[in-house]
Amino acid sequence: MGCGKFIALEGGEGTGKSTQAALLAASLSKRGLTTVTTREPGGTAGAEAIRALLLSPPGEGWGPRAEALLFAAARSDHVERLIKPAVEAGSWVICDRFLDSSRAYQGGAGGLGDDAILALHQIGSNGLRPDLTLLIEVSPVTVAQRLSQRDQGKSDAIGGRDAEYHHNVGLAFGKLAAKEPALFARVNGEGSADQVHTRILAAIEPILSETR
Ligand code: TMP
Repeated sequence: MGCGKFIALEGGEGTGKSTQAALLAASLSKRGLTTVTTREPGGTAGAEAIRALLLSPPGEGWGPRAEALLFAAARSDHVERLIKPAVEAGSWVICDRFLDSSRAYQGGAGGLGDDAILALHQIGSNGLRPDLTLLIEVSPVTVAQRLSQRDQGKSDAIGGRDAEYHHNVGLAFGKLAAKEPALFARVNGEGSADQVHTRILAAIEPILSETR
């Protein structure tokens, strides 16, 4: 892609991705870079409509395959209409979740397997990968504390799945990062938001220096 960069933040529920996406965008803007902050599922009108279908499903909910297809369809619209044009115009796109969430949730915990998710991504988004994926990792105790403050007992159709599902999501993320170390930076998400932000700035330094 052009001269911008594409950075994804990944991790399980309650790892602090949204807070860190906002802090990172603010730091990059202060350095004079143009930033676009976005999220998945969502980011465009069409993808936000699919988000609503995924997180508050009608009827009895989606089966694993339909769910994976809907995520891939939302991502396709998001890449085509927002991410690709923004990076080509020179922006730094900071995305709260991307492909690796589908690999960890639907492919890993959902049992569809990595090859199926990568095949859908090839069809939907031409296989686009971020320049860097920041995987934020926190202990289960910290997650439980943060979720009880954030959700107040309410969660969506996927966040509300059982502890084993979310444990498997965490394992799957770890395996993906171990398999493709050049594409991932693993970030310790424990401590204050500022402490985690400092770690993230250190992790993106190599790609920041490419643009100087
Ligand atoms: P959010 O709460 O981080 O915005 O994400 C919404 C939920 O969707 C969250 O439980 C993770 C899940 N998800 C997937 O299962 N697969 C995906 O590809 C993405 C992007 C999110």
